[in-house]
Amino acid sequence: MNISVIGSGYVGTTTSALLAAAGHSVTAIDIDEAKVEAINSGKAPFYETGLDLLIAYGRESKNLTASGDYDSLGAADVIFSCVGTPDNPDGSPNLRFINEVAKTVASKAKAGAIFVQKSTVPVGTGERLSLVTKDQIYASNPEFLREGTAITDSLNYDRLIIGCNDQKTAQTIERLFKSINEAGKDINRVAEIGLTNEQIKENGHETIFTSVKSAELIKVTANAFLALKISFANSVAKLADKSGADIGEVMNGIGSDNRIGRSFLNAGRGYGGGCFPKDVSGLISVAIDHGVDFGIMTAATDLNESMPGYIVNKVAEVVPLKNKSVAVLGLAFKAGTSDSRKSPSVDIANIVSDMGAKVLAYDPQANEEAAEDLNSDVTLLDSAATALKNADVVFVATDWPEFKDLPIEQYKSLMSGKIVVDCMNCLDKAEVERCGLTYIGVGR
Ligand code: UGA
Repeated sequence: MNISVIGSGYVGTTTSALLAAAGHSVTAIDIDEAKVEAINSGKAPFYETGLDLLIAYGRESKNLTASGDYDSLGAADVIFSCVGTPDNPDGSPNLRFINEVAKTVASKAKAGAIFVQKSTVPVGTGERLSLVTKDQIYASNPEFLREGTAITDSLNYDRLIIGCNDQKTAQTIERLFKSINEAGKDINRVAEIGLTNEQIKENGHETIFTSVKSAELIKVTANAFLALKISFANSVAKLADKSGADIGEVMNGIGSDNRIGRSFLNAGRGYGGGCFPKDVSGLISVAIDHGVDFGIMTAATDLNESMPGYIVNKVAEVVPLKNKSVAVLGLAFKAGTSDSRKSPSVDIANIVSDMGAKVLAYDPQANEEAAEDLNSDVTLLDSAATALKNADVVFVATDWPEFKDLPIEQYKSLMSGKIVVDCMNCLDKAEVERCGLTYIGVGR
């Protein structure tokens, strides 16, 4: 099919590259020239496992083109909207870009084209936009892929949600995603993501057809529920710290109940990124608009925001941080990404620096992006070893494999102090203690 994808962020670029690899003719549109240039030169505009290779493949096959204008919309059978929804100061999502895209589609797309909203929008947005794009058919197809594992998640997903009032259109969208799975083995090989054949499900995905409004609400409430699980685990971790229980054991114990499930119950410095914080505040704000009190999510947010300070204070009770040399390993909001938006790791670095410590930080991918949010006196370094050298304390703030795999003896030989703060409970506590270092985790 002839497809245009508006917006070349994580969702848009991944969608474009996957659809091109599945044999469709795709134009990725973005107003940011740097992104257009990156894609046309065969690269992703950000770090995402396997995406460079997939984009290069799309360019070679001539199925993928990036463009800074909207000329391709006239010929498109399907148009995906994947533009950002930044926060308003009150926590509600700013829909300026979403609204502009709808107006552009209404003026440039052919009658009968399918207009698919992939961006996360408040419930009711589709109903309003359908009045703008009267000649096109509107559908909501929320995205559930995670940054860092975007290609894997796109091949190995649990469910596809398609909210559309027109059944035939909904089936056309389903077929598009099935075509990605049919090309799954090629995509796996080209992107070198190493899935087994069993993991590349060609069939067996559940497609759930819903109304547009339900699809919109499924997206935000799925993220909100996962955020709730994390904040719940972190609340229990605080209690485990006080009572002497071990949060890992507790969460394994409750997570083995199928009704609860073990995932997203890892306690640590809390969630960040471009999705959970924004989607939770957006949900609270849309609930207020509808006169519904969403106190449960306000509590989850407050708890999440308390975690960086909670961890730093735990350390400050053991050793005053003023004038200490402190290594912060990891700035990205999670491993596998260069994204440091609303990253609790950045908060940790800043809180420690506010306490008067000399902070030496390093992230394998996010140094550049984190720089603008870090206190000006935080020093960015280009390796874990240089950050650790002569450090009194180390905070392992993001669970990158290179920090988990670094032998504890190396931490010990590089540091001059003994305190290892495991902000994501990703290190082997017994091993750290065996090496004669002091281990501080979250709820352990
Ligand atoms: C999240 C959802 O998981 C995706 O399904 C969704 O498509 C995406 O948002 C989106 O709305 O676009 P993502 O933000 O990429 O994906 O990251 P996650 O892997 O979900 O992690 C979110 C945060 O939670 C990270 O900071 C992570 O470190 C933290 N986390 C996760 C925990 O603290 N504990 C856990 O047990 C799991």
